[in-house]
Amino acid sequence: MSTPSTPAQAWSGRFSEPVSERVKRYTASIPFDWRLAPFDIQGSLAHAAMLQKVGVLSAEDLADIRRGLGEILADFEAGNFVWNLDDEDIHFNIERALTKKVGDAGKRLHTGRSRNDQVATDVRLWLRDAIDSILALLRAAQVALLDLAERHADTVMPGFTHLQAAQPVTFGHHMMAWFEMLGRDHERLVDCRRRVNRLPLGAAALAGTSYPIDREFVARELGFEDICQNSLDAVSDRDFAIEFLAAGALIMTHLSRMSEEMVIWMTPRFGFIDLPDRFCTGSSIMPQKKNPDVPELMRGKTGRMNGHLIALLTLMKGQPLAYNKDNQEDKEPLFDAADTLIDSLAIYAEMVPGIQVRADRMRQAAIEGYATATDLADYLVKKGLPFREAHEVVARAVRTAEQKGCDLADLPLPELQAFSPLVSDDVYQVLTLEGSLAQRTHLGGTAPVAVRAAVARARKRLG
Ligand code: ARG
Repeated sequence: MSTPSTPAQAWSGRFSEPVSERVKRYTASIPFDWRLAPFDIQGSLAHAAMLQKVGVLSAEDLADIRRGLGEILADFEAGNFVWNLDDEDIHFNIERALTKKVGDAGKRLHTGRSRNDQVATDVRLWLRDAIDSILALLRAAQVALLDLAERHADTVMPGFTHLQAAQPVTFGHHMMAWFEMLGRDHERLVDCRRRVNRLPLGAAALAGTSYPIDREFVARELGFEDICQNSLDAVSDRDFAIEFLAAGALIMTHLSRMSEEMVIWMTPRFGFIDLPDRFCTGSSIMPQKKNPDVPELMRGKTGRMNGHLIALLTLMKGQPLAYNKDNQEDKEPLFDAADTLIDSLAIYAEMVPGIQVRADRMRQAAIEGYATATDLADYLVKKGLPFREAHEVVARAVRTAEQKGCDLADLPLPELQAFSPLVSDDVYQVLTLEGSLAQRTHLGGTAPVAVRAAVARARKRLG
């Protein structure tokens, strides 16, 4: 092992003066890209194994590299890996630590690659791992929703348009709407993962390399399902990251909409649900308050996800091929996005089973909202009245019920018949909330049987 003095920077031979402290801090990514360490090591191990296989690296060098990187990984996992700002980023930090441990073999590791294809590989490996965690959490959230939907397949609530009671639905049906949103989020991420899961290594700085590399071997070692087909594109592409942020922004948008509903339902005026105390906080001055802080924060964190998406879109838009240092700015938004998604989904999956449903309040709101008015109109249409006329008849009936302060179903038969002679005593079957629900048994409908069927189909799909 020969060890001529290692320059302060891996590229410093070309330079006559050091960078200022401020420039050093400005250009360094190690304060945040240290998280890539295990993935950087994984990539280096595959690269080294390939170099040895094609005869560029000796078996002894490979053994030294494996031992050194193994020790560095153990240090990292034990929280003992010390990084140095002088070494700019995680790639240089690990390379220097390796060289310190194993000498020349460490210096040979970088043969046939560049930090440009190295960082692109690291980010893809890291993101693939993050996506897998997020996919598992999406499924956990979906399962929690299925359980709640099944328990409340018969629980009546008003469905809303314009945030005004519109027609009766079941709470189970509403939960299945949430379930569907997360299902599409899952699909989107699975699709995005296919484009993340491609190998850039081998592109080197931008033009490929003169060494007889075996990219298929590296791809297999790292579990990539495909290989980036063009060296220029491989080092400059970050659209896989933008796709992830777009999918993430939609996940947060969905969580935000659900959170908004929970906040509304928890206000004393609605009183549809309650959340366990562990997801709420009190007020420092108003002792009567129980604030839904967790859903509110989830709604709020959607803003930062949207910000990250716009940040990366903006980062890319002016970049000529191939690699530019701009790309170093992809990491903080990506890391924060994954952290936000993982935390939000884990808490959401924990919170859903805790939702306490106040069926009496929901039912009361459906009654007060004349939620079966449309059913009365449909009833008249089925008896031969044109829909527009039926609409008018029911509007008058609602006004009367409103004046009397009662539900449509409380109006006596002769009174209903005064609005239209087509009404007979079978009208009460559609005027009741249960009667209204029971008619909507088609696929995608809100009848309790349809909700139970939807839950069963979903369970089968999730396996
Ligand atoms: N820290 C850099 C990044 O995150 C690694 C690649 C640097 N390459 C370069 N030629 N400056 O993008």
